[in-house]
Amino acid sequence: MTEQNVTDHDVTDHDVTDHSLTEHRVTEPNVQDRYVRPRGVHPRLASPDYRSTALRAPRRALVPLAHRLTETTGPLYGTDRVTEADGDLTRQHDGEPLGQRIVVHGRVLDGDGRPVPHTLVEVWQANAAGRYRHVVDNWPAPIDPNFSGGGRVLTGADGSYRFTTIQPGAYPWGNHPNAWRPAHIHFSLFGRAFTQRLVTQMYFPGDPLLPYDPIYQSVPERARERLVSRFDWDATQPDWALGFAFDIVLRGAAPTPMEEPHDD
Ligand SMILES: [Fe+2]
Repeated sequence: MTEQNVTDHDVTDHDVTDHSLTEHRVTEPNVQDRYVRPRGVHPRLASPDYRSTALRAPRRALVPLAHRLTETTGPLYGTDRVTEADGDLTRQHDGEPLGQRIVVHGRVLDGDGRPVPHTLVEVWQANAAGRYRHVVDNWPAPIDPNFSGGGRVLTGADGSYRFTTIQPGAYPWGNHPNAWRPAHIHFSLFGRAFTQRLVTQMYFPGDPLLPYDPIYQSVPERARERLVSRFDWDATQPDWALGFAFDIVLRGAAPTPMEEPHDD
């Protein structure tokens, strides 16, 4: 990211915190200014309808730890390990995966609308049948031997990114009886250090499951639609793939809601 400390998970909308400042300046040597996430944007750490949050949401006030150079300068993934093939999830195996081919693209922007260049964007998702290639995902939907469901790209100089993948399917989960996750793609963005990682989910326009999804609903109402991609006719490729646009805004007046990095 272009600025420091954008992932201060210790300053969230949770009830036990009371941060009215948007920025906390410090005078101690080598301590970075602390960015305080705004209220009413990001999902609450404790969301009763999203049951697993009861197990992990803090019950006591959090203690922000100062970020010094150690936390904000590394380690950082080497960019030389990202290849062009990593951005095309349909070409990672000998055969083509099943499902609707789609292009997902957008830009990573800071709070002032400036592009965030050369930052690592990772995605992971279920296959067209709604199944992850993961040991704990064993619901009766088929695994696609030609689809791993993971990809990564670096943003360009203009902050843009682009993936080719397969439209993910909805899948059931154990939150409550007959619970289904709407189709989604998980996104992770890395800044200059692990402490700056941001994680969110992208949804698809018009999904009928959105009103029933406690994870989507845990995001404050005014910010939810920022997680829904836009069907992008211009990105649709004739005889090949549909297109969706999803810009990610890191901070400012209308940032993209971000979550703790361990949601389903
Ligand atoms: Fe998921």
